[in-house]
Formats: sequence, C-alpha cells, structure tokens
Amino acid sequence: MKPLIFVDRRLPEDVKSYLEEHCSVLSWKPDEKRDETRLQAYLTDVEGYFTSGAMKVTEELLTSAPKLKVISTMSVGYNHFDIPAMRARGVIGTHTPYVLDDTVADLIVGLILSTARRITELDRFIRQGQWKGNEGRKLFGLDVHHRKLGIIGMGRIGEVVTKRAKFGFDMEVSYYNRSRKPALEQELGIEYKSMEQLLRDSDFIVLLTPLTPETKGLIGAEQFSMMKQSAIFINASRGATVDEQALIHALQSHTIAGAGLDVFMQEPLPAQHPLLDMDQVVMTPHIGSATEATRDQMAMLAARNLVHALLGTGEAHIVPELAQ
Ligand code: DGY
Repeated sequence: MKPLIFVDRRLPEDVKSYLEEHCSVLSWKPDEKRDETRLQAYLTDVEGYFTSGAMKVTEELLTSAPKLKVISTMSVGYNHFDIPAMRARGVIGTHTPYVLDDTVADLIVGLILSTARRITELDRFIRQGQWKGNEGRKLFGLDVHHRKLGIIGMGRIGEVVTKRAKFGFDMEVSYYNRSRKPALEQELGIEYKSMEQLLRDSDFIVLLTPLTPETKGLIGAEQFSMMKQSAIFINASRGATVDEQALIHALQSHTIAGAGLDVFMQEPLPAQHPLLDMDQVVMTPHIGSATEATRDQMAMLAARNLVHALLGTGEAHIVPELAQ
C-alpha cells in the first residue's frame, strides 16, 4: 500500500505525478482556508508531510500526527522545524540544499549593486519626474569593485557569492564562520577574520548564517556600531538573525550607509514599517530562490527527499541535526 502524505502547496505537474506514483496524496482543497487546526486534521493519518515552511512544525502539530515519519521542506532553511521535538519522536526532516545556491547568490549580488549604486532609489527619482540634469554629486553612489566584502556564515551560498565577488568585481573577500575552512581559503584566496575584525574592515557585509538558537539576534546594536559609516549590510539569511530595531536605528542614525534585505522579522512586512521610509534600503520579499527553474528543481528535490526517506529507496537530504 502506498504511504499517505499531505502536500501544503501547489506543485509542478511532473512533481505531482512523481509523488502520486509513489504515495497517496492529500492536499488543500481549492479556496480552503489554511490554518493550523485544518492542517492538524489533515496530518492525523499521514506518514509524510511536504511543506514550503508556511506553517511551523511545533510540538502540538507533531502530536496531532502520530503516524508521521518524514517532513520534507521545499527550502534550504528549516528554522520552522522544532528539531528537539522531531528528534524525540524519531521524525526525519529533509531540506533542499545545492539547487538554489546560484540563484540566491545572484540576488545577493543584485542587492549589493542596487544598494551601493542606489538603483531602486534613482529609478523612483526618474519616475517621480525629479531628474533635471543638474544634480551634480547628488546622484553618486558607492563603488562595489575592488572593495572589501565580508561574509558571515560561509556555506555553499557564501562560496558562490565569493566567486562572483572575486572574479566578477575584483573584491577582497573575508569570512567569519563557526568553523574555519582552510582548504576554501586556499582555493578562493579568502581570509578568515574574527567577527569583530570583519565588521570593522568590510565595505559590504553579507549575513548568510542559518537561523538557530545560537544565531538569533546575532547582529545587533554592538555589531552595527563596529561597522564603517559607509558600510552596506545585506541580510539573505532570516529576519531573526538580526535585531531589526537595532538595524533601523543604525540606518536612521547613519551609523551605516545602507541595507539590502530579502528577509524580515515579520513577513510580509507590515504597512507603516519604518524601513519603508528609507531610501538607503533596498528590499525584496524573501525571493532568494524565486526563479521558475530553481523553484521547480527545489520542488522535485523535496519530493524525492520525501519518497526516498519514506520508502528507503534512495538518498534524502536529511537536515544535519537529525542526520546522525
Ligand atoms: C530557503 O530556501 O530557505 C530560502 O530562504 C528561500 O528563498
């Protein structure tokens, strides 16, 4: 008998067919209100849960799903998993690394360029009919090429960003990571620095650490105060890795020059949020991996992870904390 699974999002046809070949698939009805109570009802009898991370995997949710064996998230980040609760119940968690690295790196470079050269701000300037031709230095931005890039959290995406920065823009790249990576330092010609040194030296600081209890609020008032006044801060990890109030204050007080943000404490960003009034901030709505090709690959990888982990028929990308 095929295992019963619940899928919480619309999927490309080939991914749907693949899942249906191996599993009996439940999913939301069209126009059905999606909330935790309804989700818990769907999970009562399932062995597998395919999620995009829209709803958190909590102790309560796991209690409502006593037969659940595998949760497959269609994302590389899995901070919506309650890891201790999953471990205690022997529930496997999988995610989708590798397939999105280039796409996320492209967006990070875009945020660096847009912020430094004020691309979105000056686009608005033209559209608002403000371009008179006599602006002089008023439209100047900051150079990206040959500047110093500091990456906090040197995983696969950091490596790809490094290649773009070094070989595309002749940037000098340093990194801070929980564990040092001597082979990578050799291969890419990058320097390991303490977090403080990296914050003090860098023109562009890119935060890429996963959100864990240890990295929550990693960048706060103290860290912003160490940055150059001309520094640009990019967050492509998760909103909660940064103390958002401290970021807002650092921008308002010109402690730093600007920020490029793909992630926020609250998503979607609430109306009237202070960041909305800041021309020196470029924002994107958590779209790091959002291209058709990459999202399709992520969907298929998440489907394979689910089937392989449920049926034991192949490799599954189990999240590191649950892999041992
Ligand atoms: C992920 O997969 O975790 C990314 O945040 C998606 O953009």
